[in-house]
Amino acid sequence: MKPLQLSPEDFRRLAERAVEETTRYLTGLEQRPTFPKTSGAETSTLFGGACPEKGLGPAALEEVGKIFDHARPCNGRFFGYVFGSGESVAAVGDLIASIVNQNVTAWRSGPAAVTVEHTVVGWLADAIGCKGFGGSLCGGGSSANLMALAMAREAKAPANQRGAQAGVVYASEQVHMSIPKALALLGLGHDALRFIPTDRGYRVRVDELRSALRADREAGKRIIAIVGSAGTVNTGAIDPLEELAALAGEYGGWFHVDGAYGALAAIAAPEKFRGLALADSISLDPHKWLYQPVDCGCLLYHDPAAARAAFSHSGDYARVLSQDPVEGFAFFEESMELSRRFRALKLWLSLRYHGLGAFRDAIARDLAHAQRLVRNIQARPELELLGGGELSAVCFRCKTSDADKANAAILKRVLARGKVYISNATLREGFALRACFVNHRTTEADVDTIVEEVLAAAAEVGAAGIAHVSR
Ligand SMILES: Cc1ncc(COP(=O)(O)O)c(C=O)c1O
Repeated sequence: MKPLQLSPEDFRRLAERAVEETTRYLTGLEQRPTFPKTSGAETSTLFGGACPEKGLGPAALEEVGKIFDHARPCNGRFFGYVFGSGESVAAVGDLIASIVNQNVTAWRSGPAAVTVEHTVVGWLADAIGCKGFGGSLCGGGSSANLMALAMAREAKAPANQRGAQAGVVYASEQVHMSIPKALALLGLGHDALRFIPTDRGYRVRVDELRSALRADREAGKRIIAIVGSAGTVNTGAIDPLEELAALAGEYGGWFHVDGAYGALAAIAAPEKFRGLALADSISLDPHKWLYQPVDCGCLLYHDPAAARAAFSHSGDYARVLSQDPVEGFAFFEESMELSRRFRALKLWLSLRYHGLGAFRDAIARDLAHAQRLVRNIQARPELELLGGGELSAVCFRCKTSDADKANAAILKRVLARGKVYISNATLREGFALRACFVNHRTTEADVDTIVEEVLAAAAEVGAAGIAHVSR
């Protein structure tokens, strides 16, 4: 054998071993604590060694069990942040994608892969009611938002040739941090972002937005974009997209929808997303609410010419040689990346294996789980609902004195108990416990564990007024 090459037999043995290990991992997944018993010192010792000069051979795989034992498992009781649960057919797709190792730059580098990506992007657009949108897959919602705002900037305040010109972007005060980050990276600066106040449901206030637009226009500012959220990260609030689209039209701005958390829920609940198809661009995250293993983000856009205006910059060595519309296509002309992973394969496989209907049902179950948690919270006098429930994020806290401090301690205790994993958000009332359902493994019993665990943790930390927990 040549150096670094495995014989097909050795590959099969190694892959079978990997399948055995991962199958064992999946078999015990629900029994694992929701956060591993570990520490920074321990993981540094276990995984921080020197690179071996001489190869270990198949024994290299032996350490994988330790990775499992020190990983945060994606089991049915993970409700933190907004993070998908890692569907297994898609995981097989990732393995195959790595073996076939296509560089999805252009059709000429990966004919099947480029075509599969077009197909899958079209499926996603259709599934959320945005038929006819084009786009591409990317690393996640942050990359998709950055690309969208690069397109907006080039359309409204061209910068690629002479550098960034001043301009303003509008979003609700609840917008995800990836938006201000994108403005910084694009040379527009954080100060270019107008944070617009929200209503009681954390949706952007259209009257406030209109006033800000009017004031900026009168002051001679260049209006670049309005960013609507289709699912804010804290509470899952959906901005009034139709009204935002109308304002963007009136003021000549680009209309981008950050749907990284929520827009894929339009597959199950389209009525919540009226106006989505009016966007110039939409960020989606199949690695959130389509349960795909990371990484898998997606940017959809209405007009591919706007993507080419922002991203087309072919070096001579990459110049596309064919005039054929399929064979001449290059993703690098319409997106940020040149070398690109075959991300579409996992989506293609898992959508074909399960069918779109199974994903629609799973998203509907997540929405129902959030409603169940809301009811569980409302049934307990010790608890107070603070926000969410529109999509699948629910924010609440224990009613107790010194609520911020006490609930932070309760969260720490919940995580240490290891039965459920929840996270936190800061809302108007202060510190909130937060559970978010984008998890195809969750059962109703798992949902019910959340309130039980929070009350048990509250009793353990001695939160005032929560002395006894009935089970
Ligand atoms: C609303 C929203 N936008 C953008 C992002 C960023 O997505 P990613 O983590 O895939 O970069 C998130 C992540 O949670 C999000 O909730």
